[in-house]
Amino acid sequence: MTDLNGPLFPLSFVCPDISSKLGPDYVLRPLHLSDYKAGVLEVLKDLTTVGDISEERFIEQFEYMRARQGEYFVIIIEKIATGKVVGVGTLLVERKFIHECGLVGHIEDIAVAKSEQGKKLGIKIISALDFIGKKVGCYKNILDCSPHNEQFYVKCGYSNAGFEMTKRFDK
Ligand code: ACO
Repeated sequence: MTDLNGPLFPLSFVCPDISSKLGPDYVLRPLHLSDYKAGVLEVLKDLTTVGDISEERFIEQFEYMRARQGEYFVIIIEKIATGKVVGVGTLLVERKFIHECGLVGHIEDIAVAKSEQGKKLGIKIISALDFIGKKVGCYKNILDCSPHNEQFYVKCGYSNAGFEMTKRFDK
């Protein structure tokens, strides 16, 4: 039986300082299976195409990630008054051979609901993912973004380190 209340990763990875800075209206926490109904995919639709994901498929993907402890950290900001997800971000931890078998954190899929943008939730999501990156032992966190968002990441303490290159494999 799937535990609908179980988090994707342990609560000890959630930075207490950032949680307290969010104030009483929001909570910062790991992704839960119940976030399918709390609208996490709706928030991600502000970022890009999500597609038509059934709850079964969401559970399957969640369980894949949860089985890989220390690799997938999807963090959520929930608005307490509505019980809805208003912010989401992912840190994916990559194991390398270089840098003495170092770890690199990849920041992915950051989104804040349109109605909640400009309230410093995005910067807190990035700080929370930086905290996790440091805690698991990453020597750096990296991300790709559009020029439109460059200044947001500069405000989060990131600097431009080059170009993003891509090749699409269409189905
Ligand atoms: N350009 C310049 N400055 C920005 C931008 C921007 N696009 N977005 C935010 N900022 C600034 C804010 O003005 C603020 O500055 P201040 O501290 O001087 O007042 C600071 O950055 C922090 O802003 P937040 O309020 O924390 O930002 P917000 O909560 O609105 O989240 C985000 C920013 C995540 C980019 C949000 O606008 C969003 O979800 N956009 C749509 C999805 C998206 O583009 N996500 C990022 C994709 S890149 C990736 O996933 C790796």
